[in-house]
Amino acid sequence: MIFNVASAEALHNAMQKWQSEDFEKAIAWLFDQANDAQVLELATFACTLRDRIYGRRIFMRALLEFTSFCQCNCYYCGLRSEHRQLERYRLTESEIIESCKNGYALGFRTFVLQGGEDLYFTEERMTRLIKQIKATCKGSAVTLSIGEKSAATYQQYFDAGADRFLLRHETADPSHYAQLHPSNQTYEQRMRCLKDLKKIGYQTGAGFMVDSPGQSIKTLAKDLMFLRFFQPAMCGIGPFVAHQKTPFAQFENGSAKHTLILLSLIRILLPKILLPSTTALATIDENGAIEGFNAGANVLMPNITPILKREHYTLYDHKKNSGTEGAETFLQTCRMIEAEGYIADTRRGDHIDYC
Ligand code: 5AD
Ligand code: SF4
Repeated sequence: MIFNVASAEALHNAMQKWQSEDFEKAIAWLFDQANDAQVLELATFACTLRDRIYGRRIFMRALLEFTSFCQCNCYYCGLRSEHRQLERYRLTESEIIESCKNGYALGFRTFVLQGGEDLYFTEERMTRLIKQIKATCKGSAVTLSIGEKSAATYQQYFDAGADRFLLRHETADPSHYAQLHPSNQTYEQRMRCLKDLKKIGYQTGAGFMVDSPGQSIKTLAKDLMFLRFFQPAMCGIGPFVAHQKTPFAQFENGSAKHTLILLSLIRILLPKILLPSTTALATIDENGAIEGFNAGANVLMPNITPILKREHYTLYDHKKNSGTEGAETFLQTCRMIEAEGYIADTRRGDHIDYC
């Protein structure tokens, strides 16, 4: 029995009252001492709570990496502005709309527009794009993942029809945040953005890398405390994966085991959360996508970026890059999910509090 509790529900309830020290102890024990059976028990608790709310459905989101230009300089990321040799691309407005239409024909009803902080995509252009996608792909949700903006800009995109926004908090520890970012990218600003997004009414996604340089049991405990406080609708977590052209080239990749344990803990802490099994996890671990689901994840984001462009969207080395924009590979992905006892669900798949 783990944590002296008899059920998933009991662990969920206990975690609502945990202090930082309790999270630290739990994480340290799970990382270093728990045996496979105990980690499996944690994962089973997580899946039980997930299944009660969402069933065995894996929500499929079409991911469009529409620009690799970025004005930020995050130390961990291959798209950072100081990586000057990188061949960058932007999809045109019609390429974006065409990609969404193709995704729509495959059944997708969520489109995730992900990009670096690229000033080419002005408020005017983004607003037009959001409206066009909402008008063309009827009944779909639009998720933005385009970084830090003013509250007024977030509001404008929401009014144009954007439904959700992904902005990982990266770490809930200010000094760790400063180890991951240059001094003009601040923790306070990131938190301001997250607060604004939620207040405006977006289904808001937070998240962080696992085993990023400078991360510790203490900072992870803060991440979980932050998630409990902030109650995001979504949380993206994946292992840190080193990129050779960044200041963090020499750091080791994050561990799949740690990622899976954290997925389970987050699911138990916030049973209603939408939790992706990330590309980073699938990149370091052959069977990572499925292992993520078995740990409590329930979202997959197949990439529908045109393949020739996609090769240049390199957040980290050896990024997994399969051709999910084609009908054939997409059906293969669905079959893989269903072979594991899940249902691949391409509908909107809103967070249960936003239905
Ligand atoms: N390894 C893993 N994840 C990364 N990200 C950026 N660079 C890396 C990397 N090297 C993640 C960040 C960011 C998201 C878009 O991708 O957490 O928020
Ligand atoms: Fe830009 Fe995002 Fe990469 Fe930071 S993590 S450099 S904001 S693309």
